[in-house]
Amino acid sequence: MYTLGIETSCDETSAAVLKGRKVLSLVTSSSLSLHRQYGGIIPEIATRNHLKVIDRVVSLSLDKAHIEPSSIDVIGVTIKPGLVGALLVGVNFAKALAMALNKPLLGVNHLHAHLFASFLNNRVRYHFPFIGLVVSGGHTELFLVRDFTDIKAIGKTRDDAAGEVFDKVARAFGLGYPGGVYIDRIYNPEFRGAFTFRCGRIGLDFSFSGIKTALVYKKEELVRKRQFTEEVKVKLLSSFAESVVQTIVRNTVMAAEKFGVKTIVCGGGVLANRRLRQLLHEASRAYKLKIFIPPKQLCTDNGGVVAGLAFYRYNKTRVSDSISITVEPN
Ligand code: KG4
Ligand code: ZN
Repeated sequence: MYTLGIETSCDETSAAVLKGRKVLSLVTSSSLSLHRQYGGIIPEIATRNHLKVIDRVVSLSLDKAHIEPSSIDVIGVTIKPGLVGALLVGVNFAKALAMALNKPLLGVNHLHAHLFASFLNNRVRYHFPFIGLVVSGGHTELFLVRDFTDIKAIGKTRDDAAGEVFDKVARAFGLGYPGGVYIDRIYNPEFRGAFTFRCGRIGLDFSFSGIKTALVYKKEELVRKRQFTEEVKVKLLSSFAESVVQTIVRNTVMAAEKFGVKTIVCGGGVLANRRLRQLLHEASRAYKLKIFIPPKQLCTDNGGVVAGLAFYRYNKTRVSDSISITVEPN
């Protein structure tokens, strides 16, 4: 079965063709460089860029997979969550294509799709049930996944997402965008306990906005006292990052214990973080859990995971969505 996946929820315009779970092509065009000067994603710029490139991105994904549009069996597209204008570009393109080719169309929640990354290319067999951990710029969520057709949210952030808090902190420290990348680069394990910062945990929910404020106040205090050196900056950021990733891992392990599940599957851009990956591997050994972390290029938003989830659902149920599906931004 050939599946075309289209993803336009944020700044990436991405399309992929799968044969079963195997990725035949994955083409992504990002408008990230256009947003850098603003220190965050500007929805209008993202939307206009999707409009500009979507045709070429999808055509190229078909060319690279060496298949004709008529050979596609299923089309999957992100319908949520994301920026409303950005989502509309992908969804309307996918609908038009599905109608023109008379193919089934499936609307996909791309947070759920992130969890498919580990199963692409038949790297591993499906391991149900599992705890799904999605950590991205807009979301920090835990799921109980009994099957890719039975996904239940069991924990989420009450305020900022982990990626968002990395980005906001990086901006306050005059680092580049996206901030998570710069904080990961600066992170020094020797300094991870230099300062004490705590993130909020309420059951399986997270809260990251308090730590951001505490860190910025501490920085301002040290600047006032003329103690804010380059080394102090690294100490502050390393201590902050350590607390964020420790909190993510702690709640994930707690979720596994609460639901008696022995497998964790991860996804989302923040999973590129070296310390988070390391802590997840350590937790896997300490708690005898199987942990799947996708390769970095499949952690971020991409058409491959959207196609993967659409393939799975259609292959299992043979049920497609109505051509009148529309976006659900939240
Ligand atoms: O999943 P993603 O590509 O986009 C969505 O938000 O959907 O995630 C982007 C987020 C950004 O907030 C970025 O700062 C963060 O992932 N990020 C990282 C790293 N690389 C990207 N955070 C921590 N460490 C990294 N190495
Ligand atoms: Zn995402």
